[in-house]
Amino acid sequence: MSAARGRRRPSRTTMAEMSRLAFEAREKARAPYSKFRVGAALKTREGEIVTGCNIENASYGLTICAERVAVFKAVSGGLDDFDAIAVVVDAPRLTAPCGACRQILWEFCGNLWVRMEDLKGRSRTLQLSELLPLPFDRRNL
Ligand code: THU
Repeated sequence: MSAARGRRRPSRTTMAEMSRLAFEAREKARAPYSKFRVGAALKTREGEIVTGCNIENASYGLTICAERVAVFKAVSGGLDDFDAIAVVVDAPRLTAPCGACRQILWEFCGNLWVRMEDLKGRSRTLQLSELLPLPFDRRNL
């Protein structure tokens, strides 16, 4: 994985498929406390797509976001070389990955494309470097 390597933005068709899978994943969210359900779909450059949803806990701090579930599922399944993630929410404003997720995404996915979408079909796609412009990573160590 190289943080600097360029990634071509996936096609509209691919992004639409990622959104569909993220919508489906969102249905599986376990969010009894916040009621804020999130779905994510992470794609390898080769085309494999791994989904995630947020999973909350009565001990709130143990909650894990949809994006991190997707990353950890993918990495633990032996995948790497990711180029895009779709994040779907039902909220008045689009949800960008939280700070912790940005850091995890940067570590395992580098400068991938991040598509944020809501249930009304509004979306915005940008690269992780725009969300995390001055990252802390292995180059600092
Ligand atoms: N959450 C995500 O799953 N992804 C984000 O990018 C932001 C927040 C979850 C965590 C928690 O279950 C709920 O949304 C409210 O913060």
